[in-house]
Order: sequence, then C-alpha cells, then structure tokens
Amino acid sequence: MEVCSIVYWTFRGLASLIIILSAGYLYWKTTRNKQLIDQIPGFKDWPIVGDVLHTGSTPSDFLEMVLKACDRSSAQGIVKIKMLEVPWVFLYTSDLVEKLQGSSKEIKKSYEYFSLHPWLGQGLLTSSGDAWRERRHMLTPTFHFSILKDFLEVFNEKALDLVEVLQRDHCDTDIEFDISTLVTLSTLDIICSTAMGVNIGALRDGNSEYVKALQVLKEAADSRPQKLLYYIDMVYNNTAIGQENNRCLRLVHEFSYKVIAERRAMKEEGISQSTGKLRPFLDLLLDCRDEQGNPLTDHELREEVDTFMFAGHDTTSTGISFTLYLLGIHPEVQKLCQEEIDQVLDTGGSISNADLNKLTYLELCIKESLRIFSPVPYVGRELIADTQFGDYLIPKGTAVFTLIMKLHRDPRVFPDPERFDPSRFTSENCTQRSPFAYIPFSAGPRNCIGQKFAMMELKTIVATLLRNFNIESVQSREELKINPALVIEPVDGIRVKLTSRQ
Ligand code: HEM
Repeated sequence: MEVCSIVYWTFRGLASLIIILSAGYLYWKTTRNKQLIDQIPGFKDWPIVGDVLHTGSTPSDFLEMVLKACDRSSAQGIVKIKMLEVPWVFLYTSDLVEKLQGSSKEIKKSYEYFSLHPWLGQGLLTSSGDAWRERRHMLTPTFHFSILKDFLEVFNEKALDLVEVLQRDHCDTDIEFDISTLVTLSTLDIICSTAMGVNIGALRDGNSEYVKALQVLKEAADSRPQKLLYYIDMVYNNTAIGQENNRCLRLVHEFSYKVIAERRAMKEEGISQSTGKLRPFLDLLLDCRDEQGNPLTDHELREEVDTFMFAGHDTTSTGISFTLYLLGIHPEVQKLCQEEIDQVLDTGGSISNADLNKLTYLELCIKESLRIFSPVPYVGRELIADTQFGDYLIPKGTAVFTLIMKLHRDPRVFPDPERFDPSRFTSENCTQRSPFAYIPFSAGPRNCIGQKFAMMELKTIVATLLRNFNIESVQSREELKINPALVIEPVDGIRVKLTSRQ
C-alpha cells in the first residue's frame, strides 16, 4: 500500500513538473517570439486582432496595405503584418531576399500554399523537404534545352492559331477587346500539348468542361486563403464554392489519369508516343527513375502533370499579355521590336531557335515587362530555423515572403521604377546588379524549373503577334487595375485595338 502511494505521488509530482515546465516553455517561447516579431516595422497593431482592421475586403486592399507598410519602413526592406496573432513577414531588398531565397535549407513552402494541395498534391511546386529534393533531381533533366527546343514547333503552331483568330474576329475593326482572355486560352493549348501531348483546342472552344474546371480551380485556390473559416476543410467542403471546387477537382484529376493511362499503354505497346519527334513532358516522366530505380506512380505522375498545367499556363499568359500591354502604350518601343523582328524573320516561315537568339531587343522588352508586372507577385517560405534578417531575428516557423513586385521597384536598383525602360537589361546595365534584385522566376534552389521554356514561349508568341499586328493599348497605367492573386490578373483584362501590318 505504502509503495503504491509513493509511486502514485512520484508519478503525480513528475507529471505536474512536466506540465509546469511545458507551460513555462510555451509561455517563454510565445512571449519571446512575439517580442521578436513586434520589433519588425509595420503598423501599430491591435492586441489579438493584429492588423485585421487595416485590411480591406479584397486581395488588392490587402496588397495595398502591405505596400503602405513597406513605404513606412522604406529602405529597411522588411515589414510584418499580423493577421490575428499570426505574423507574415515580407522582404523586399536584394540582400535580405538573397538570405532567404539563396539558402539551400530554407526550402519549405509556407502554409499559404495549402489551397493548392487538393489539386497539385505533393507536386514540385507544393512539396517540401526531401520529397521535393528528390523530385527536383528527377525532373531537372526533362527541362534541358535539348528537349525544350522541340517544343518550339508547338509554340509556332499555337501562335499562328492565335493570329488567325485575332485576324478573323478583332483586327482592323477599331473596336477594343480584351486580348488576355485569348492569350490565356492559347497558352493553355500550349501547355496541354507540351505537358500531356493532348490537343484540347481551348482557343477554338473555350467552353470545354476541362477548361472551365481549370478556371474554377484556379479561382478557388486564390480565394480560399482569404477567408479564415475556409481554412477548415469541414467548413469549406460544405460551401457552394467548396463543392464546385471538389467537382472540378474530380473532373481535372480524371482527365489527367485518363491521359496517363493512355500514354502508359502506348509506351508498353511500343507505339510511337507522339506525332513527329515531339515527346511531351509526360512521356519523359514515364521514363524517370528515383535513386532506387523506381518509376513514378500514376498518382505522382498526376501531381506533376497537374503542377505543370497550373504553373505553366497562367504565368506565361500573364507575361505575354502585360508585355503586349506595355508595347501597346509605348509605340516607339513597339516599332523598334517590329524592325528587329522583320529583320530577323525576313524569310518568312516559322521561328527557329537561332531566330529567337537574335531577337535581343524583344528579350529586353520582355524582361522589363516581367520586372514591372512580375506574374508571380510574391513567394512564401516557412522558416525552419531562427534567422537573422538585417537587424531582426525572425523565429523559426514564421511565414516569410519575398515581395517580388516591391523588390523590382527598389529605386536604388531601378531608378524611376515605374518607367518602362528595356535598356535596364542590356548586359552592361546588369553587371553591377545583384542576381537577387530581379527575380521574376524566383531564385536559388526553388527557382522556376520552367523558365527557359517560358522565355522561349513568350518570345515566340509576342514576336508572331508583332509580326502580324500593330497593337494599341487603350488603358492608361492608372486605369490598369491589378488583382494580386497567386499569379497577377488584370481586373478588367488587357484592352487593345489591333491593326494589320500586311
Ligand atoms: C513567365 C512565366 C513564368 C513565371 C513568371 C514563373 C515564375 C515562377 C516562380 C516565381 C516560381 C517560384 C514559386 C515559389 O517559390 O513559390 C516558379 C516555380 C515553378 N515553376 Fe514557374 N514560372 C513561369 C513559367 C513556368 C512554366 C512554363 C512551367 C512549366 C512548364 C513552370 C513550372 C514551375 C514549377 C514546376 C515550379 C516549382 C519549382 C520548384 O519548387 O522546384 N513555370 N515559377
């Protein structure tokens, strides 16, 4: 009896001690982390609600608030926003950005990417840690130039389709229209052909169930993180938008699985998997092996194909549309591009890789457009260790974002940053610049795996359009409102008028 009582009291004593120590540690950690976060410049936030009272109701309002906070902290290059008690830290000078993006350890994506998980699973964009490292290692060879150069045939073909539709419906009418919608359908056709080897004809039939489902998924991924209650699956799945999202998820996943099954069967039967010599990414992924020699499962293949579909069409469409916009409000720059294009492509016919290399002035214009209108406005990480950024120690676990759109407007690096000036990217003007000062494709180990593909696509489409049309943008810079979603969107489209150059 006595022994039992001793054991009982010892156990209770130990349990109480553990609880007190844990509570003490938790209190210390919360207070310490809070103190560290509170030192970072930002608004004077309120207890518990943080900066919620400063945020408006739309993503643009939120971004405006972040930019206001940046202006207050000016040259320090770091601000924090607190949503309730949850801190988000934003970095926007190249030295601080280098510390985050350049790190081979800080590769964990922040929680805010959760809305993409049901769609993309543990694909390359959304995975972290060793799973990401292994996948990146496996997939990197599929983006080698020797493979990408074959995709030029698709870029040319789809560019001509776009020209045909524009010529038929919009050219020489003196009526403005939104060119970005058509460009998006065209880039969707490109990524479907190059990723899966499937021609979905989105440009000709933008009403297909698959195309509409992709649009729903993208909008849901953008809108879900904006409502705190939607973070809870049980709540979200019972809303109308959550149910529509789930219906579209099933449709898109079924489509990808069907294509995977078809191409796997073709491969097993030894049938040439594509017309001509073009091998879509999916065929290359079927041949990929991990370090133990295992191929990707259908589930893993689906994650990667869906990731390419998401990461590879809105981004390129935005890049093309905003380049056309800027050239449309700067006719003198547009004329210089056209002169170069006419000279390089003087024999007619499709654009070759050698031609692309010669379109150097066009490339400067595209780079400058990706600076002013970076398609991806910010990227986020969750710190895996306490890290010093300038004067501030940021605790492990904090969500830290590189605010690309603000970084690209640092007046010390890009004087008069709102001015469209392609000469900023001539090689002599780039030599002094930090590689982390201009990062439309992000930088460091988690940079964009598709950036060469993207630049080839952008150059081919823009060159083909400028070869055929003069473009006049009708919105001024002040009128062009932007929605800072995962990929930026022009709120009212990119409104232009086209005249034929023939
Ligand atoms: C103008 C076009 C593009 C831009 C501006 C762009 C930009 C970016 C950025 C900023 C990231 C980093 C995202 C982050 O850290 O959260 C990224 C990652 C990625 N991009 Fe792109 N991208 C473009 C086109 C493409 C294309 C065409 C593809 C595929 C065909 C692609 C596939 C990917 C993938 C798979 C990742 C994840 C890489 C990783 O984490 O290892 N992107 N892109």
